[in-house]
Order: sequence, then structure tokens, then C-alpha cells
Amino acid sequence: MNSHHPAIDRSADILLSDPWLVTPAFVYDERVMAAKLRAAATIREATGCRVLYAMKPFSIVPALRMMAPGLDGLAASSLFEATLARDVLGARGSVHVTTPGFRPDEIRALDGLCDYLAFNSLSQWRRFGGQLSGRGRGGLRVNPQLSLVKDDRYNPCRRASKLGVPIDDLADLARRDPASLNGLGGLHFHTNADSESFDPWLATVERIDERLGAVLSRVDWVNLGGGYLFDRPPDLAPLAHAVGLLRSRYGVTVFIEPGAGFVREAGRIVASVIDRFTSDGRQIAVLDTTVGHMPEVFEYQFEPEILGEAEEAEHTYTLAGCSCLAGDVFGEYSFREPLDIGSRVVFTEAGAYTTVKSHMFNGINLPTIYALTASGSLERKRAYTYRDFLSRCGG
Ligand SMILES: Cc1ncc(COP(=O)(O)O)c(C=O)c1O
Repeated sequence: MNSHHPAIDRSADILLSDPWLVTPAFVYDERVMAAKLRAAATIREATGCRVLYAMKPFSIVPALRMMAPGLDGLAASSLFEATLARDVLGARGSVHVTTPGFRPDEIRALDGLCDYLAFNSLSQWRRFGGQLSGRGRGGLRVNPQLSLVKDDRYNPCRRASKLGVPIDDLADLARRDPASLNGLGGLHFHTNADSESFDPWLATVERIDERLGAVLSRVDWVNLGGGYLFDRPPDLAPLAHAVGLLRSRYGVTVFIEPGAGFVREAGRIVASVIDRFTSDGRQIAVLDTTVGHMPEVFEYQFEPEILGEAEEAEHTYTLAGCSCLAGDVFGEYSFREPLDIGSRVVFTEAGAYTTVKSHMFNGINLPTIYALTASGSLERKRAYTYRDFLSRCGG
């Protein structure tokens, strides 16, 4: 299904035919981002939570600077992301971090940059909790052991998960040795992926309330993670109920940190057809992009959305990336008009987990970054060159 966001419809002509746009291009639409920020403001007002953006799906700096005033802060997964978060936010807004990869040599720097640090295990809490400069900033990521995601590759609550302290272990520790949690400031969980309903958020909070009441009554903040889409949230009531429960019963500050929900629809990758031929009777169209620019297409073997594709239309192509990898293929797509060499192909809904994961396999350059601004004009933000490749190669 293609997105029907009005801003996307208006921009189609520019993406398909503006000669100034050099492909492959990654184009983010500031108007779509502004709409997401308005949706986030509605969520904040309706539910009483604070809204962070989890930087991991997309961290293009000028876009982060544009988003920052509409956010309560940024959520990072590493020292580099936390450094960028603090740089973008300045003194305004909070920086949060959680990762299974906290390193002893980075704790001091993270302590200086972040307002909230959620340790991923009791082992990390024991080793690093006492090293933080202020009380109450260190928390624990909890695994609520409530599986919401069917595909285990995305499921933080899979069996023997590496993500967070199993809820029963924490409840048990709070009973047996409450002093070991002295100084604990908060709880964090993140358990979902691309959920369009907020019901699972409430179910998760109910489970935490039921099993971890003794811990909740000792902390100041709870971070409910991301994994929820929110442009047209079907119903805000479950989140409002969840946040209300935590605030009224435990007096905590509640954060949410969606990532993809803010950016997926805002980003598009524009490619050009650079070759066409037949193979085993199929029409192959080779593009000047590659799955290396959208690695999840290959990792998870899904077919990305393309503007103007029409099932059962007359002209069908296998759209292939331009690297040497045989499986560097986007899928079979049909269009009403034939594709020629030079025709443009626009991948919609390409804002999340693309630029941050892209690489230069085969020495193929990264897409040039453009913004579609509030006035509808195209602005080039960053073009990569041989020097970027050389530097990645240690040169
Ligand atoms: C801890 C944490 N918070 C937030 C997110 C953002 O999730 P999404 O982009 O699905 O909203 C993730 C994604 O992996 C995560 O691991």
C-alpha cells in the first residue's frame, strides 16, 4: 500500500522529474515531519506523557535540528548518538540512553551527556549504577516477558532475550534484597515494533503494575519505549489510561520514545533505471541504488513500497540493485507506463532504518541527502564523495 499523505502526493512530481535532483537520493520531507510532531503534541496533551524521539532509525542532523523544538528530548543507543543528541538539543530537552553495550570506558562521558541512563541488566546496574554523578538518573530496562511481536528477530521479549532484566527476576530481587536497588531512579521497557494500536502499551503497563509495584513505588520515571506508529492513532485512550495509572499510583514522570513512527513516511529513496534486459523471460531493471541503501530489505526479505506501482498493470519488472550480490533485488513491480533507462523509481516509506544502516559495499556511493522544505522546495543537504569511501576504507 502506498502512503496517501497529502505532502507525499504533492511532492511526487519533484521526485520523479526535477533535473536538479541527483540519484540515488534520500529525500526527507519536512512537512511530513512537522505533521508527525503535531501528532506527538496531541499525544502529549491527551495522555500526560513526555515525548522523545529515538534516534536509531534516522539521524540526519538538519532534520534532527528541525524536530528538536517539538520534542521533550532524544533517546540514544550509544555514546555517539548521545553526543549528537546533546549537540542538537543544547541545554533544552533531556537525553536518554539505553543499550546492552554500555562500556566501562564510556560511562563517565555518558554520565556527562545524559539525563537518564537505563541499564540493560542487573550486572550493569551493580557495576555502573554507583558511578553516576546524580541519584535517580540510573534506571533498569525491564523485559516484561510479554511477547507482542511474532517475528523473533524483532521481539525483545523472545525466550532468553538479551534485552532487559526479566520482570520476575527483578520482582524477586526487590523482595529478597531491596537494598540492592537503592538509588534506582527509573524503569524502561521497549517491547513492540510497528504497532498501530496502543492497546499493547496498556497491557504491558498493567503487567508492570501487577508484578513490580514495589519497585515502581521507589522510582521517579518510567520510559515506555517505542515501537508504535502514531500518525493516525486509532485510539489514544489505552496510552492515556497507562500513563494515568503510572502517574496517579506512583507519581512518576512517564516518557515514550518512538522512532520509526516519526520518520518512516517522511523519507523516500529516489533511484534511476541504469540498465534493462531480460533474463529467463523476465524484464530486469537495474537501479542506481542497492539494498545496501536499505539493508532491512535484504535482512528481512520484504518488498519496499514504490510510488505508482499498480498490481496487474501492464509493465512488470524485477527491480534490481546495482551491486554484485545476486540477491540485491527489491522485487517484482508492475507499472502503467514502461520503465526506460533514465526513468525514476521512488521508494516511499523509506525514512526509517535506511540511512543509518546504509553502507558502501562495492564502492557504491551513498544517496545524496535532500530536504523537501516547508515551502515545497528541494534543498541539498549532503553529497558523499570518494573521500567518504576512502575514509571508511582506512585511507
Ligand atoms: C530501546 C528502544 N527504544 C525505541 C526504539 C524505537 O523503536 P521504533 O523505531 O520501532 O519506534 C527501539 C527500536 O529498536 C528501541 O530498541
